[in-house]
Amino acid sequence: MNKAKLITFEGIDGAGKSTHIPFVVDLLKAAGHTIVSTREPGGTELGEQLRTLLLREPMHLETEALLMFAARREHIDKVIAPALARGDWVISDRFTDASFAYQGGGRHLAIEKLEILEKWVHSHLQPDLTLLFDVPLEVARARLKASREPDKFEQEQNEFFANTRTEYLRRAAEFPARFKVIDSNQAITKIQEELREILQVIIDKTVINK
Ligand code: TYD
Repeated sequence: MNKAKLITFEGIDGAGKSTHIPFVVDLLKAAGHTIVSTREPGGTELGEQLRTLLLREPMHLETEALLMFAARREHIDKVIAPALARGDWVISDRFTDASFAYQGGGRHLAIEKLEILEKWVHSHLQPDLTLLFDVPLEVARARLKASREPDKFEQEQNEFFANTRTEYLRRAAEFPARFKVIDSNQAITKIQEELREILQVIIDKTVINK
């Protein structure tokens, strides 16, 4: 049996990833997989408490990065690793690439420090596929304005998001084997078509044997 997959969704706030997660979950379920759908920061009881702090409270940028990885440590232990061990596929709304993009790109925390945390927290685990939803800054900002009350990150200025987006794209170029960059400034049906193609490849490679 091929091993279960970890698929992560990434993109700057307003890039539209949340719209596409249910579509991907349904697609994978239809292919016969059991899906655990989760998110970061969060995904566990403790992680959700850390999320509330992270999305509301101002804090030193290193505290922010450490708490993101603390929540992630718990998330891997309690949710991600057990699910993969059972053979379930895991869909995570954000993972470590978000720490590189937001804390590294957006807040200028040294990438080397993030690499140390990454090695500490999950040296043997990487997503099998990372879907990066990419849109021009203005589009993302306009979408956000139309939605609800902004959290701590969503209140950041354009420069922060420009740097976050640049770091996401830099990582996509650095790890082309697992990243798929999706132009999120297209009609939803067009994006769904693209997602269907990308996921079909990974589904076809997997033998379901439960
Ligand atoms: P988000 O995933 O956009 O959730 P929602 O759709 O409910 O707003 O919110 C999580 C925020 O946390 C987002 O602004 C990015 C930020 N974040 C980081 O800064 N670093 C991280 O490592 C993670 C996982 C998220």
